[in-house]
Amino acid sequence: MQPPADLFHPRHYEAVRKPLLQAETLPTWCYTSDAFYQREVERIWRRAWNFVGHVDQVAKPGDYLAMEFAGVPLIIVRGKDSVIRAFANACRHRGSTLLDDGTGHCSTIVCPYHSWSYGLDGTLLGAPEMHKTEGFKPAENGLVELRFGTWGGFLFVCFDNAAPPLATWLGGLPEKLECYGLDDMVLARRKVFDMACNWKIFVENAKESYHIGTVHKATINKYASARSAGYWVEEPTGEYVVTFAQHENSMALLQGDAGFPPIETLAGRREAGGTYAPLLYPSTYLACTIDCAWYLELHPLGPNRTRLVHGALFPRSRMQRPDFEQLAANYYKRWDITIEEDIIASDRQQQGVASPYCLPGRFSHREPLVHTIDNWVLDKVLDAP
Ligand code: FES
Ligand SMILES: [Fe+2]
Repeated sequence: MQPPADLFHPRHYEAVRKPLLQAETLPTWCYTSDAFYQREVERIWRRAWNFVGHVDQVAKPGDYLAMEFAGVPLIIVRGKDSVIRAFANACRHRGSTLLDDGTGHCSTIVCPYHSWSYGLDGTLLGAPEMHKTEGFKPAENGLVELRFGTWGGFLFVCFDNAAPPLATWLGGLPEKLECYGLDDMVLARRKVFDMACNWKIFVENAKESYHIGTVHKATINKYASARSAGYWVEEPTGEYVVTFAQHENSMALLQGDAGFPPIETLAGRREAGGTYAPLLYPSTYLACTIDCAWYLELHPLGPNRTRLVHGALFPRSRMQRPDFEQLAANYYKRWDITIEEDIIASDRQQQGVASPYCLPGRFSHREPLVHTIDNWVLDKVLDAP
């Protein structure tokens, strides 16, 4: 479908705005158009609290991670005072990026262009040959600091100084997930995937169970439907949607595979028999099950490119077990299989929606959150009526 000239006029989206069982899916240009993507960058990613990593990636003073997120090169670094801060990855001299993307360790941040150097708290420490420059004040030339926050071991950055604090964005989610002890979980494995699809396609997939019988028919479906006693959407009290699936055993294992004992703090609770899976808008996916948790971190790279990071979290005490690697391998197997299945499905959907002959579809009653998420996006990006 060719996007209209007045792309963000609400009249083009009236069919998506209807109740679920009367609604249509998003027009296909929402997944393919550069202009739509740029509007999402401006109105969603540059205003939201964005999930950018896990605290274990910056465990020691001097540990850093650098990345481009929604077009902004940034650095997350733990200072000598142990405080984690986020900075724009741009030199205050003539703008060079300072650190290459990835993780690393440093005691100061030195620009690779003319060797200006910065402390881990962003202070400008050295600027060679600048002593003759009139009125130049090193104290006014520190790195540009970005809003930063953490919850449950997750790192968040916000590019909008006017946005509400992270706690407001999270609402009641931390309390709901408190019994899983996320703060005491260790990032045991982190795996990165590059996907040839729009970020919404993968997020929609992650929040509907309708595809499980088809896409995962040979893997998780074999036991998921048989043992699942219930699956429902809970009322959100922040910028998220959340489902709870009631079932026996761990959601993170294939049937018959051995795993770790349940998380001790779940004993006697309803949560001990199921999985909470919130999607914190726009794209922090988390699943907390009876013995572990995992997350999906999505970095938008363009209308049809998204980086996906999968993080595997286990309670700290499990890491000390002599059989940790052996048991963890069962979880990694399950995640690797199902993520691959979901990426194939997502990339295939992207190819289809890019066709000029692809028309909007209709929703099943099994896809309420796809409809909710799509409408959340429209709330953010459309022009006022
Ligand atoms: S651009 Fe960084 S020192 Fe010149
Ligand atoms: Fe899936």
